[in-house]
Amino acid sequence: MNNMLIVMFGMIIPGYILTGISEARLKVGFYNKMCPDAESIVGGFVRSATEFDPRVPAFLLRLHFHDCFVQGCDGSVLIANGPISEKLAPAHQGLKGFDVIEGAKALLELMCPGVVSCADIVAIAARDAVAISSGPIYKVETGRRDGFISNKTLADKMPDFRDSIQLLKHKFFEKGLDDKDLVVLSGAHTIGTTACFFLMDRLYNFSSREGPDPSIDKDLLLELMETCPPNGDINFRLPIDHDSGDTFDIQILENIRNGFAVLQSDAKLMDDPVTKRILDSYFMVTNQSVKPSFEADFVKSMVKMGRIGVKNGPKRGEIRRVCNTFN
Ligand code: HEM
Ligand SMILES: *[C@@H]1O[C@H](CO)[C@@H](O)[C@H](O)[C@H]1NC(C)=O
Ligand SMILES: *[C@@H]1O[C@H](CO)[C@@H](O)[C@H](O)[C@H]1NC(C)=O
Ligand SMILES: *[C@@H]1O[C@H](CO)[C@@H](O)[C@H](O)[C@H]1NC(C)=O
Repeated sequence: MNNMLIVMFGMIIPGYILTGISEARLKVGFYNKMCPDAESIVGGFVRSATEFDPRVPAFLLRLHFHDCFVQGCDGSVLIANGPISEKLAPAHQGLKGFDVIEGAKALLELMCPGVVSCADIVAIAARDAVAISSGPIYKVETGRRDGFISNKTLADKMPDFRDSIQLLKHKFFEKGLDDKDLVVLSGAHTIGTTACFFLMDRLYNFSSREGPDPSIDKDLLLELMETCPPNGDINFRLPIDHDSGDTFDIQILENIRNGFAVLQSDAKLMDDPVTKRILDSYFMVTNQSVKPSFEADFVKSMVKMGRIGVKNGPKRGEIRRVCNTFN
């Protein structure tokens, strides 16, 4: 893609302008020779952290998304470099799971010092998070290096829960991801929770028209209003995938189609004919032999997301010793 010319919005643009998928030279089993236990060490940390706190898989899946969308999948979101830290950006509000990454890193540094990047630990942990939630099991590509920049301004362009569907599509497109990736990756909301904070406008003041989002199912609306009352605790958390928040399954897409989306951005997938058709395709099957699989498509899009802006030359990145600090 790097040297290709790409037609976008009617203009011809050289591939390298897009931050996308281009220079990825990742591979499955990148650490097989230099640190053969790398993936199982990360997996062990994810499992034991999850036993301790069942919210961990959702933290880790979201963390990978937020890492990849700012500066590429390069561990930039992990850095704590004072008030400018990327992790302090409003778009990253509520991110957790950093301790699991640091824990795995500390053991990896004992076993194979200077070998396994933090960006790869995040990608492996996200893979394991999906598996632990009964989602699809897949081979994760590795070979990313850790970036040199952490700057919260750079997170301003993260997809936002208030964005229009057009803007969401555009933000994914800029990262080399298409409409199908947007739909199935939003399906990650099959696990995890949201704070009432992200629902208040949707329930009481949608698009500043003083009232709820008309696309919410009436029963769900009443339930959400009860859970997140007007002057209630905006930090109170509820499942994003209504009635199915713990397991990875297609229920999230069904909920979105039926007006049971909790997050605004998920509901908006029904606002656009293309993303709506993609959602529908998982349920309205006309030909069994071409039946699409949410799980298989999710894996494809995760692998694609994991390639965004990957750094893999020695000058373009490093292997951090500690994930929250540059070397
Ligand atoms: C399409 C754009 C997206 C928007 C606007 C969005 C927005 C949000 C919001 C507002 C929350 C609640 C955060 C909180 O209250 O702490 C959330 C949670 C979550 N998001 Fe997304 N998201 C998007 C895409 C994704 C993608 C691509 C993934 C992963 C592949 C993902 C994974 C998650 C997970 C797992 C949670 C639950 C986190 C937890 O339980 O702490 N999201 N998202
Ligand atoms: C952070 O990024 C912004 C936008 O690119 C830039 O204007 C600003 O100077 C950067 N800050 C630092 C300290 O590098
Ligand atoms: C509703 O939203 C508008 C625009 O976002 C804002 O100006 C107004 O203060 C909000 N009203 C309430 C009651 O939150
Ligand atoms: C179903 O799809 C397969 C694969 O594309 C195709 O070969 C077959 O003819 C289709 N069957 C029907 C009934 O359309």
